[in-house]
Amino acid sequence: MRGCTGTGKDEDRKDWMKPILVIGAKGMLGRDLLPLLQASFIGREVIGWDIEEIDIREEKSTRSKIETLNPETVINIAAYTDVDGCEKNRDAAFQVNAEGMKHIVLGAKGCGAKVVYLSTDYIFDGRKKEPYLETDLPNPLSVYGRTKLKGEEVLQKGIDDHLIIRTQWLYGRHGKNFVASVLRQAKEKRSLTVVDDQTGSPTYTVDLSRAITGLLEHNSRGIFHVANQGNCTWYTFSQAVLKFAQVEGVTLTPISTEALGRPAVRPSYSVLDTQKFERETGMRLRHWADALKDHLSTGSV
Ligand SMILES: NC(=O)c1ccc[n+]([C@@H]2O[C@H](COP(=O)([O-])OP(=O)(O)OC[C@H]3O[C@@H](n4cnc5c(N)ncnc54)[C@H](OP(=O)(O)O)[C@@H]3O)[C@@H](O)[C@H]2O)c1
Repeated sequence: MRGCTGTGKDEDRKDWMKPILVIGAKGMLGRDLLPLLQASFIGREVIGWDIEEIDIREEKSTRSKIETLNPETVINIAAYTDVDGCEKNRDAAFQVNAEGMKHIVLGAKGCGAKVVYLSTDYIFDGRKKEPYLETDLPNPLSVYGRTKLKGEEVLQKGIDDHLIIRTQWLYGRHGKNFVASVLRQAKEKRSLTVVDDQTGSPTYTVDLSRAITGLLEHNSRGIFHVANQGNCTWYTFSQAVLKFAQVEGVTLTPISTEALGRPAVRPSYSVLDTQKFERETGMRLRHWADALKDHLSTGSV
């Protein structure tokens, strides 16, 4: 990964010369975000670190690595993202999602960096039944949601110059995700059961990366909800995946969340209202179905 070795401390560098650091750069979102930032912030070094370069669970090394690099902005997209795994491994999830954020905040404070944090719709309980605003009260139902909310709180308390981007239902060209899983299972089993009582907005990591870049270009601060337009259930999403990928002869059966019996409780409705982001940047992410068609036409799935 470009620039992973870091550079020597140079406190005299002007802000515009300082690098942008992405932590969690080898994950699903990171692998789309990094090249886009590099293409958008020409002349500025964009550095991607993942667990091999920085383990955010470790306070001392996280602080010193960030302070030594002396970035202008730290974008934290590293997380313990296995939502069901978090229920069994509470401490491990807390260490990464909450404590990890704290360690990054300490490092960023040490060098005056802005911090960007990717958060989730799972901080809401889903009872609202209409799109969630940035000002709506969080009430997470799962360990994952609680640890991510803690990460938000740590950042809000620690650094004034922060940006929290809440998003949802990510899929992309890299890593494990729902779209890849539907296509794999369709090939293996020809028969799938999919939950039909959770509603959200599937969001393409390529589009989200553009949105993050847009918010950075506007030097935005505070909380923003970002997702592709429209909404659906996982069942209707899986129907679209098979249709757009032109996979035939697969039986899809809708089931309830209760019948699926996953360990983590998810909100039944977690659509995010994205108007604040649209007003701020003048951008509007396309409808999820258009993004999905585009994704499936790239041949990278
Ligand atoms: N996926 C979604 O649907 C979704 C929805 C809403 C919000 N988000 C948020 O969006 C962000 C990106 O999600 P994603 O799906 O791209 O996640 P991801 O694919 O799981 O990537 C996260 C990356 O962080 C790394 N990491 C884990 N623990 C670390 C540690 N202690 N120190 C440093 N790096 C560590 C992971 O490495 P390993 O793979 O080796 O563990 C992985 O490369 C996360 O903050 C997530 O909470 C995701």
